[in-house]
Amino acid sequence: MKRRSFIKNSALASSAGLTYLSSSMFLTSCTKDKKVTADGSSPIKTIQPSDKDEFLMAEGFSHEVFLSKGDILNSQGEEFGSNNDYIAVVPLNSSEAILWVNHEYPNTLFVSGWKYSDKTKNKKQVDLERKSVGGSLVHIKLVNGKWVPVKNSQYNRRISAETKIPMIAPRKIAGSSVAEGTLANCAGGVTPWGSVLTCEENYDNFYGERNKDGTVRPSPMKWETFYNNPPEHYGWVVEVNPKTGESKKLISLGRFAHESATCAIAKDGRVVVYSGDDRSDQFVYKFVSDSKDSLEKGELFVADIKNGKWLSLDINKQPALKKRFKDQTEIQINCREAGKILGATPLDRPEDIEIHPKTGEVYIALTNNKKRKNYFGSILKLTPANGDHGSDSMRATDFLIGGEDLSCPDNLLFDHEGNLWVCTDISGSAIGKKPYKKFKHNGLFFVPTEGRYSGRAFQVASAPKDAELTGLCVTPNQDGFFISVQHPGERSPSVDNPSSHWPEGGASKPKSSVVRISGEIFKNLWS
Ligand code: FEO
Ligand code: CA
Ligand code: CA
Ligand code: CA
Repeated sequence: MKRRSFIKNSALASSAGLTYLSSSMFLTSCTKDKKVTADGSSPIKTIQPSDKDEFLMAEGFSHEVFLSKGDILNSQGEEFGSNNDYIAVVPLNSSEAILWVNHEYPNTLFVSGWKYSDKTKNKKQVDLERKSVGGSLVHIKLVNGKWVPVKNSQYNRRISAETKIPMIAPRKIAGSSVAEGTLANCAGGVTPWGSVLTCEENYDNFYGERNKDGTVRPSPMKWETFYNNPPEHYGWVVEVNPKTGESKKLISLGRFAHESATCAIAKDGRVVVYSGDDRSDQFVYKFVSDSKDSLEKGELFVADIKNGKWLSLDINKQPALKKRFKDQTEIQINCREAGKILGATPLDRPEDIEIHPKTGEVYIALTNNKKRKNYFGSILKLTPANGDHGSDSMRATDFLIGGEDLSCPDNLLFDHEGNLWVCTDISGSAIGKKPYKKFKHNGLFFVPTEGRYSGRAFQVASAPKDAELTGLCVTPNQDGFFISVQHPGERSPSVDNPSSHWPEGGASKPKSSVVRISGEIFKNLWS
């Protein structure tokens, strides 16, 4: 009964007011540290929550640091950036691939020596920070059965806040067709033609945001002090050719705090991209392209979860939008306002979105919404009508409610067997404190989506101090995972007194890193 009443309260507290719950949530409890099975044959032993400054994994998994902040990528001396997040793998052949890794924001203390409490920042500090964000392309190769980065490969390159990137739109945006750089690169996706989508999430932290009266609200990072870049040039999905680094901002997919961009194919072959706006009470969007091999043109929709409808943001289909906005590009720049006018459903911070490989259902991590007293978040499931991602109807159900097994689901991954893997992101300032105390550090969780334990979460990894785990992806030959360990030691009081010494230990400074996960267990899990 305790569990039932908890779930009810949790659902009612959410901004969407969802009350329909998955029957799987009412399973009798199963004990931690007990072997669980996904499909009746694949045992995983779980770990208990930990507050150790270590990357810990359950029995059967092994791991090693693969790439760290500051690693030199090429002969030009370009470095692997700060706070690595989303990872995409684009295979070149059976033993080589290109990794794309997002660098979401600078861990400023260890990049430029700047603290948020510092009143001023100099240009040298801003320049160091601008170089540390964006993304890295890294050639990787299978050597003696093990994936390793290829040093100085022609494919190794950085895209940063200094890279000039065209914006694909029928007109200029804030006076230009080219943006300076990409930043706030959180999660992303891979297109059916093998390009990478990288998402600009908390863009307003860097150059601020435009107020209604046309002035610019200052940013916490203060970059606008030295670079007068328009806020409208950020908050987009950027498409990157992993072989050449050629990039473009896809205005068609709209502007908001894009968490991720997850591709699916509609029944008529058009490409569909799902994306959430990670801010309290913001929306989920779906883009349906006009073609099978490009995302430059198409129709953007926003989710009315309560009525199970996708609402078009096309200026010619919505008189209320035609009245308010001068053209389609203006709607794309101001998606939040347009979605609100149409009555889209506010959600509890939509983070990553993934599609179940067997059922085609769309899983959305709603991480939390402290404004609404939803502290632990949930995972929402959308079932497209007729199994068609191109349909304008869908049904929403809760798949997992946070608070018992895990808290604050953020990044998701389905393996090809249909098991969901969930990375959590309890914010650094809240870790170890009420109401998050029992969860200790952030972790990685294994969640079966069918059978007896469907919707239950089992912890398989624990992050070092202050860090979140993110960017989980399967290696090209399916022998394990790559995962990002992001922002260890983020709450360090000073450079010389780091709160984490991961990964090098001793008195070393913390470094965000990509970790390669392997182990015999994958042979059982992914037979
Ligand atoms: Fe960058 Fe919403 O996490
Ligand atoms: Ca995230
Ligand atoms: Ca994901
Ligand atoms: Ca995060």
